[in-house]
Amino acid sequence: GDGRLRDRFGRTAVDLRVSLTDRCNLRCGYCMPPEGLDWMAREELLADEEVVRLVTVAVRDLGVEEVRFTGGEPLLRRGLAAIVAATSGLRTPGGVPVRTSLTTNGIGLARLAAGFAQVGLDRVNVSLDTLDRDRFTAITHRDRLADVLAGLRAAQEAGLAPVKVNSVLLRGVNDDEAPALLRWALREGYSLRFIEQMPLDPQGAWDRDEMVTAAEIVERLGAHFALQPVPASVRGSAPAETWLVDDGAGLSGTVGVIASVTRPFCGDCDRTRLTADGQVRTCLFSTSETDLRGLLRAGASDAELAGAWRAAMWQKKAGHDIDDPSFLHPDRPMSAIGG
Ligand code: GTP
Ligand code: 5AD
Ligand code: SF4
Repeated sequence: GDGRLRDRFGRTAVDLRVSLTDRCNLRCGYCMPPEGLDWMAREELLADEEVVRLVTVAVRDLGVEEVRFTGGEPLLRRGLAAIVAATSGLRTPGGVPVRTSLTTNGIGLARLAAGFAQVGLDRVNVSLDTLDRDRFTAITHRDRLADVLAGLRAAQEAGLAPVKVNSVLLRGVNDDEAPALLRWALREGYSLRFIEQMPLDPQGAWDRDEMVTAAEIVERLGAHFALQPVPASVRGSAPAETWLVDDGAGLSGTVGVIASVTRPFCGDCDRTRLTADGQVRTCLFSTSETDLRGLLRAGASDAELAGAWRAAMWQKKAGHDIDDPSFLHPDRPMSAIGG
């Protein structure tokens, strides 16, 4: 074959998500308890050079075309700019320049965005669930809304475009805010996506019946906007279903809905993941991991690392089975897996 990451269901992984830390400076209730979690020890974390080595193998040997750095909160990682600088110039065996991006809560981005653009970062996705300061503080347990908004603006000014905003709607907390969030995003020029909450909270409190569904989100938006679906053919392996929206008063654009639970996109999944402690996870909901850190620290060659990654990919599950009675909540929360 061409050495790429393939699984037994005919999928090829070209999108790598790398978690750089399990820590975060917010405490969103659906992601982390107020007291935080049992953080990884420093020696368990991949060092900057180890991250760069594995990303290089992924791009050069395995043909990965897009690398997204996540966490926890990736901006907390001191070496982030150096890691981006060392990886943003990589090319696949076919000569395709890799694209690099971040998924972040935006805190600190105001200060950092221009520098990241300079070292070759292409895009950022920023998580933001509300525009109301009190709600923000209630959801995240930190009074930092202004920092996030400043970070978003800086990212846009630095050309890290399209700047995407990810919003998780929570019943009785911010589910009435979908139209206001969309109006704001359209005005500011951010690409907004609403996300169904998945069972990845460390407390295991996720409740299928409480979850705000994609259908509900579209219905709520429909009260304020004319909505027209963008054909599935333009979607490719992107997790978001896109809608054209128009409020009939001069405001128009698009909105995305990521229906991971009610309309899973596993059949088109093109992802592989590397945790902050150097384990390959082929799926958010994997029940097993492959220890690349151990191999790397034992002196494995690039070819051996690539081979282990390919073998891991061959074990990738068909899908997440969230609705199956046998579904097991992952033993690691999203912050440790890579959000
Ligand atoms: P783009 O390349 O900008 O489309 O990034 P993305 O949407 O893949 O990444 P982002 O980190 O912004 O993730 C947005 C949302 O997609 C997350 O909040 C999750 O709900 C969902 N998501 C991310 N990765 C996965 C995954 O591997 N599986 C599933 N089912 N959902 C995922
Ligand atoms: N389900 C869906 N999305 C989640 N995120 C965090 N936890 C969950 C969950 N349980 C989102 C964050 C962020 C992205 C990386 O994942 O809001 O936008
Ligand atoms: Fe891919 Fe797993 Fe996410 Fe489904 S749940 S889209 S298989 S990573």
